[in-house]
Amino acid sequence: MECSMKLYVCSKCGHIEFNDLPDACLVCGAGAGDFAEDADAINKPADAADLTEAEKKHIPQVVVVRECGLIPGGGCYDVHVKVGEIEHVMEPNHYIKYIDYYLDNKFISRVWLSPEVCHPAAGLHLKAQSGTISAIENCNKHGNWLGQAEL
Ligand SMILES: [Fe+2]
Repeated sequence: MECSMKLYVCSKCGHIEFNDLPDACLVCGAGAGDFAEDADAINKPADAADLTEAEKKHIPQVVVVRECGLIPGGGCYDVHVKVGEIEHVMEPNHYIKYIDYYLDNKFISRVWLSPEVCHPAAGLHLKAQSGTISAIENCNKHGNWLGQAEL
């Protein structure tokens, strides 16, 4: 991600918008006035080439699967996200609350995760077949973490 990119965070639901302040939150509908710019909204690994165990538990792994059988016609790209390289726990007091998906830094979907029922993972079926997918996961204890992959 470019260092110059601005991050705007919704104070109501935690949703992050890249670059431009929205008129309203695309997740919860809060107004532009409920957003605050925060360059540190997403945690960054201290050394991307040598991740700590905690970083491996939080950085989303984004996997694109181009052969989907669910939507016929061959034009469905699946994007799977798993948190993380070491599987994050899903316990009532420590869990992945949601995963927000973006295509080319534009928000496309939030998947909420129940710690009692869900693994720390989610999937989408995309019409889009090019661009950069970003996934931001929110851990209730350890904040926001970003993973990316090319479609
Ligand atoms: Fe965590």
